Amino acid sequence: MNPTQDINLIEEALGLAAENLGDITKPVMENYYAKYPQVRATFTELSLNKAKEMEGEMVTQTIYSLMAIIQNPIVTKIMLQEAIVNHLYLKISLEHFNGLIDSTTDVIIGVLDNGLSDNIAALNHVRHRLKDVVAMAYSNIQNRLVINSD
Ligand code: HEM
Repeated sequence: MNPTQDINLIEEALGLAAENLGDITKPVMENYYAKYPQVRATFTELSLNKAKEMEGEMVTQTIYSLMAIIQNPIVTKIMLQEAIVNHLYLKISLEHFNGLIDSTTDVIIGVLDNGLSDNIAALNHVRHRLKDVVAMAYSNIQNRLVINSD
């Protein structure tokens, strides 16, 4: 599958998710907090009690990153490296960061029926790519922080 095909398939899936669910933030966060209940308090604390706004922003950033990692991989990797330094500083773990990528992708896939197997495959391919980039960034930054603390 080439990048343009992946992007078209993901855009089509996002359109269907919007038609079926409207704003996907609520189902994404319900799915996410069911798996990681302890992160609810993190959103409340870090947003100074405006959790709904911050949840919406992070789901938007996640959808953006799913598209951008195929459209513009180098710039997106640099953007994510910088964002992850901040998230690490806020003590957000790799598991919690990538958990939001999974919940977002799962909710979009949830509105697609089995006949849309190409769209599902494209979403799964891109989700894995994004999570790998995130895992690499966490590892690079954590190693650098260990070296810098000497
Ligand atoms: C695990 C749950 C997450 C929490 C609690 C969280 C929290 C935050 C907070 C507190 C900020 C700074 C304030 C703001 O700009 O609103 C922020 C910024 C940001 N987040 Fe997240 N975030 C999460 C997951 C994600 C994910 C999965 C992505 C993308 C795939 C992402 C991408 C960004 C970006 C691009 C920014 C702006 C740049 C920056 O501040 O470094 N976040 N996030």
